[in-house]
Amino acid sequence: MLSQLVYVSNRKQHCTEEEIEKILASCKKNNPPLNITGILLYSDKKFIQLVEGESKVIMELYDKIKKDDRHTNPMMISLSPVKEKSFPSWHMGSKKLPAGKVDYKTDITTEDKNVFESILNGKEENGERVLNMLKKFF
Ligand SMILES: Cc1cc2nc3c(=O)[nH]c(=O)nc-3n(C[C@H](O)[C@H](O)[C@H](O)COP(=O)(O)O)c2cc1C
Repeated sequence: MLSQLVYVSNRKQHCTEEEIEKILASCKKNNPPLNITGILLYSDKKFIQLVEGESKVIMELYDKIKKDDRHTNPMMISLSPVKEKSFPSWHMGSKKLPAGKVDYKTDITTEDKNVFESILNGKEENGERVLNMLKKFF
């Protein structure tokens, strides 16, 4: 069964841009053989990651990521069974969110902004709404 998991966490200060490069290198090395795809959005303070793949594999990955010292306080926002992947060609698409202005691919509404804020605060629980929001970045 395919699952999609989304979580937010706090990026630690010692997690430099160089560390982000290392995280992405781990993704590039480890995710393809496990058929894991997804996206990683990050700012100076936060990570938002969506990972998708076989349920068991995704839970094992999340257990590993949770223990990573480069972030704290991982909060799962949604975990949903899916029929197909949303980001099948991204072994980990990544995008940096600028501190002030968020660079959305399309113009977004005030409602979207509110949803995004609640995702960042770990308060959004509607998986479909989260997914639709994240898709706007790619
Ligand atoms: C926010 C965040 C996201 C991560 N995402 C992944 C991931 O998708 N796949 C992965 O293998 N490691 C990911 N990691 C890194 C793992 O926690 C771990 O360091 C890595 O898998 C170790 O593997 P390696 O020693 O083979 O490089 C992530 C770490 C952080 C902090």
